[in-house]
Amino acid sequence: MNRLAILLAFVAYFQAVLAVSEKRGVPNSFEPFRFCQLGDIQIGFGLDGWQNDTYRMHLAAQQVNAQNFDFCIAVGDLTNDRFSYEIQAFQDTFPEFEPKIHLLPGNHDISSVATLKQFSVDYKVSDHGAFSHNGYRFIMLDSITLISNLTEFENYTREEWVWFETELKYATAVKEQIIVAHHHLPFEFTEDEPDSYWTFPNRVRGRYLDLIKEYNVHHILVGHRHETKNIYPTDNSFTIYVVAGTARFFDDNGFGINYFDVSTPNSATGVNQTYVHLQGVTHMKRSLGLPNGCPDIFAH
Ligand SMILES: *[C@@H]1O[C@H](CO)[C@@H](O)[C@H](O)[C@H]1NC(C)=O
Ligand SMILES: *[C@@H]1O[C@H](CO)[C@@H](O)[C@H](O)[C@H]1NC(C)=O
Ligand SMILES: *[C@@H]1O[C@H](CO)[C@@H](O)[C@H](O)[C@H]1NC(C)=O
Ligand SMILES: *[C@@H]1O[C@H](CO)[C@@H](O)[C@H](O)[C@H]1NC(C)=O
Repeated sequence: MNRLAILLAFVAYFQAVLAVSEKRGVPNSFEPFRFCQLGDIQIGFGLDGWQNDTYRMHLAAQQVNAQNFDFCIAVGDLTNDRFSYEIQAFQDTFPEFEPKIHLLPGNHDISSVATLKQFSVDYKVSDHGAFSHNGYRFIMLDSITLISNLTEFENYTREEWVWFETELKYATAVKEQIIVAHHHLPFEFTEDEPDSYWTFPNRVRGRYLDLIKEYNVHHILVGHRHETKNIYPTDNSFTIYVVAGTARFFDDNGFGINYFDVSTPNSATGVNQTYVHLQGVTHMKRSLGLPNGCPDIFAH
């Protein structure tokens, strides 16, 4: 090889390394940081009309902006029906948030391959993704394709499981602490409870929980339930944070936002969560009954 060929080989090698780091985000070192978890924004679901859901989203933006969060994660169900006026209201309000808000899909956003594709058009983001921040890796899953058995999702489902495991391996290899976020609850009370509308079906629950434990994940952010509470497995090795959001709540905890303070590079002990009510709402009326007419993501 002459010198030019060697030089070109070096250039190609560094370009490849750069491309991988850009795609992955360069592994980074720890510094304390804060982030927040927004529950289901779900414009169009509130009992007082979509304008008031939009108003509460506006209040959430004001509240978030008054904190020094590095970013927030919205755990899915951005609108209730994907009606164009709901998506428009979301888009008109979204720029009010000053920090970056990472958006996830819920079952009201995605319930078919067509709506999966539309999600990226409407919100200009992928349905799943990951990013690094101050020594932590945030893995954001599309829980619809992950847990659905609809034939049309088949390839998306398979690819997402492979992607999830690759992300877990990558974060572990570069010594980043892992936090996982998605829409559905892995389980609500016990790991072996029967299937329900709210949770991962047993068909895939064990596979998911095995990965969570194998890769030392201690924090899982979810929505969907329209309640605010923390859920723990029998061995207490992780916490599932459920937050109701700003459209409807079915418990006594009202509308609100989860604040997270990350103070050490050890996620088992360094992550402190506080639930804070949404400020400025003129009513905190509990919703009675249960939602109905929600999109079904399972084959029968
Ligand atoms: C609904 O939103 C409007 C502002 O758009 C606000 O003035 C009103 O108080 C809200 N109603 C309730 C019941 O929160
Ligand atoms: C999944 O991918 C395989 C192989 O590329 C293809 O034959 C099949 O039609 C795909 N399935 C669906 C439901 O799109
Ligand atoms: C967690 O954060 C809250 C609110 O910032 C604070 O009051 C509390 O002392 C913190 N707890 C720990 C264990 O750091
Ligand atoms: C699809 O999954 C649901 C929930 O796990 C299950 O009840 C149903 O039997 C499955 N249907 C098929 C056709 O596999």
